[in-house]
Order: sequence, then structure tokens, then C-alpha cells
Amino acid sequence: MPTLFKRSREIRNYVRSHRCEKGHAVGFVPTMGYLHEGHRKLIRESKIQNDLTIVSIYVNPLQFGEGEDYERYPRDLQRDIGICEEEGVDAVFAPTDEEMYPERPLVSIEIKGLTDVLEGKLRPGHFNGVCNVVLKLFNIIQPDRAYFGEKDYQQLKVVERLVKDLKIPVEVVPVATVRDGEGLALSSRNTYLSPEERESALSLYRSFLLAERLLRDGNRDANFLKEAIRDFILAHPHVRKVDYVDIRDEKLNPVQEVKEGDRILLAVWVGDTRLIDNWRVGDAKV
Ligand code: PAJ
Repeated sequence: MPTLFKRSREIRNYVRSHRCEKGHAVGFVPTMGYLHEGHRKLIRESKIQNDLTIVSIYVNPLQFGEGEDYERYPRDLQRDIGICEEEGVDAVFAPTDEEMYPERPLVSIEIKGLTDVLEGKLRPGHFNGVCNVVLKLFNIIQPDRAYFGEKDYQQLKVVERLVKDLKIPVEVVPVATVRDGEGLALSSRNTYLSPEERESALSLYRSFLLAERLLRDGNRDANFLKEAIRDFILAHPHVRKVDYVDIRDEKLNPVQEVKEGDRILLAVWVGDTRLIDNWRVGDAKV
């Protein structure tokens, strides 16, 4: 059974005693809970590379905008603790809102060209919320390594840059996106989807395969590919809106001519559920 901590001071002391007295390397997996195979993969990576693995479970209000799904975001701490136990996690940090935000933070974190594009443009303040909580969690846990999924590719790039610019002593380890047997990227938000909506949500993954086929046939123009992806997804029932389809290089700079290693990124509303996904060009041989 993992040890459950609710207080920063207690988990900080726990981690310190392991690191200082036993020389342990500490791996950290920040999550908002309702754990699935994607989270499990991050945990397994941490278990391989570290002596101690800590998982945080905290639905961070600061990264949700007004009218977003903060209230209905799925929560089940007992189930999550059970999954952490199965995976051999050493400690779970599940703080209260009072513990994390005794006052509304006045610090605002902005990374020019990174937090104000794509998700950041559609969800103003979102990455400020992510950066605030991630930095705070890093300060509390003080891990050697922290694990982030490519599923949230922009978040990964934002955290990498935050760590680099501020010289935070943690190694950010990226983990490839886990998909189900039909290609749907796993997400806690998939629980919102009805069976019919889930069927339409498969169009996201299938649009990546379409793009790979178009690329194979010599179509390298980013605008052409973006339009083809958008049209394909919008042709599915229950797809209410495409927030964006974009193709960028691996550092998220815009591209005109698409090449291997670039990223297709998209955000799509299926019914009342907003899904994001991304794809590394060249990852499927079609
Ligand atoms: P959450 O959505 O719970 O995701 C926690 C971590 O799991 C993130 O790094 C995310 O990219 C990764 N993840 C989610 N689905 C995945 C999948 N299908 N395959 C691989 N990795 C996946 O992301 C957050 O929480 C929050 O923003 C957080 C970083 C915890 C800050 O509040």
C-alpha cells in the first residue's frame, strides 16, 4: 500500500529522508487522478529509473477556465490509490485546495510563444495554472526526475522550458502517448463520451493516418494537410467543433512544408467533451 500524504511538509520530509539517508533517486508523476493506462505507463517508467516513485493526485482549479469541466472532472481517490498499489508506487500526495492554495497565487507564469499559442490561446490562463502547480509540486517533492506524457505535447514543451529557463534541478522525462486498441488516446475525460461519441472520437487518430497517407503521396503543404484533417474530422457525427488543427515542428514553431518529426496537434469537441491529441509525423508507416 502506498503511503498517503495530504500535507506538503510531511511528504517533503518523507522524500528527504529517503534521499539523504538512503541515497535514493526520486521519480515523480504529477496527475489529476482518475488514473488509466497512460498514467500507469508514466509510473512504470519512473519505477524503472528510480528507487522511489511518488504520484500526486490533485485536480488543480487554477488550470481550469470559467465554464470548463472543473466540477465534473472525474474523481475517485480510493480507486486511484488501488491502482498506485498495483503499480508499486511508494507514496501518493493528495493535497487539499487549502494546502495547495492558502491564498490565490499572485505569481503568473508566461512563456512567450509557448503558453500563448494553441491550447494557451483557446484557454487563457490554463498554462499559468499548470506552471504554478507543477512548480509548486516540484518544490514540495523535490524529485530527481518527473514524468510527463506526450499526450499533452504542449504541456510537455511548456514544462521543459520552465525547467530550463529557471534551472529547476529536475530531469523532465517524456513518455509516449498510450492509445486503446482502436487508436483513441487514453484520457480521464474519455469517461464523458457516450458509445456513439466515442466512435466519432476515433476520427482524431484516423485523421493522423490520413495525413500520413497524404504525406506519403507527396502532399507536404501544411495548410493543405490541416484542411484535409479538419474536413475529415468534421464529417463525423457528434463532432461539434474543431478548435484547432495545427502542424508545428517539435519545438512548436509553425511550419509550411511538413517533414518527419513535425507534430500534428488538434483540439476537437465531440458532443460536450473537448479532446486533444497530437501525432509525430512519420510514426505510422502507411
Ligand atoms: P493528467 O491529465 O492527469 O495527466 C497526468 C500525466 O499523464 C500528464 O503528463 C499527461 O500527459 C499524462 N497522460 C495522460 N494521458 C496519457 C496517455 N494517454 N498517454 C501517455 N501519457 C498520458 O496533465 C495533467 O494531469 C495536469 O495538467 C498536471 C500536469 C498534473 C498538472 O495539474
